[in-house]
Amino acid sequence: MSAFMSVRGVSKTYVAANRSRVVALDDVDLEVADGEIVALIGPSGCGKSTLLRMIAGLDTDFEGELAWSRQPRPGKDIGYVFQEPALLPWRTVERNVSLGLEAQRDKSPAGRQRVRSLLELVGLDDFAGSFPKELSGGMRQRAAIARALAYDPQILLMDEPFGALDAITRDRLHDDLLRIWETTRKTIILVTHSVEEATYLADKVAVMTARPGRIKAVHKVPLDRDRTPRTRQLPQFAEFAGMLRQELE
Ligand SMILES: Nc1ncnc2c1ncn2[C@@H]1O[C@H](COP(=O)(O)OP(=O)(O)O)[C@@H](O)[C@H]1O
Ligand SMILES: [Mg+2]
Repeated sequence: MSAFMSVRGVSKTYVAANRSRVVALDDVDLEVADGEIVALIGPSGCGKSTLLRMIAGLDTDFEGELAWSRQPRPGKDIGYVFQEPALLPWRTVERNVSLGLEAQRDKSPAGRQRVRSLLELVGLDDFAGSFPKELSGGMRQRAAIARALAYDPQILLMDEPFGALDAITRDRLHDDLLRIWETTRKTIILVTHSVEEATYLADKVAVMTARPGRIKAVHKVPLDRDRTPRTRQLPQFAEFAGMLRQELE
């Protein structure tokens, strides 16, 4: 795997309206390889969302630099998935997913076919005509993932995408995401609170410290890429997750 994106010496201080300053990130370095799944884990308020927004190009006001092997085009090459799937309630699932394509004026049959295969990929082909309120939380999040993939981004950024789901749905979406990765080989940065989620999904885990957010350590996950529900029963799984938990304390 070749170097894909590097975060180099990134710091960020927010200045509130009353002039008080919050150092959100302090000298953060992170290397992401092409096709890698990197989990970013750390206590609430340590700057995970801040870092993700910078990588997404949504916040350009920071010190340090982001180096890309291929500079992403704003709004095109980066897919973003939020904790709450921000679907448009008046659009069907299919028309939510095609949103990115419409923004790029891609109304070609190939574009429509692409939306169809994405819906198939996330298991929503039977719900193309449904509205978001007719879906379960897990299905809505699947639709949000399909939408993020619609314009074929070079990287998928996910900010606690499974945090609001119940445990069974979450486990199922974990396997869905791994299957999607198998098909697309997208580079993924996943922000999570959960050491189990990080262990199950990631190739490597970056552990952040509480404010000001720094990278405390980066660990390679000692598991084969092929993860199945049985992976969670392996002694290495519990050991690694336990080590992460300790590091977060
Ligand atoms: N727009 C903002 N203005 C001021 N402070 C902010 C803003 N966004 C985030 N912060 C502060 O920066 C820190 C990091 O926030 P955030 O990146 O959301 O953390 P996390 O996602 O890890 O929970 C927090 O202390 C938060 O209060
Ligand atoms: Mg956050």
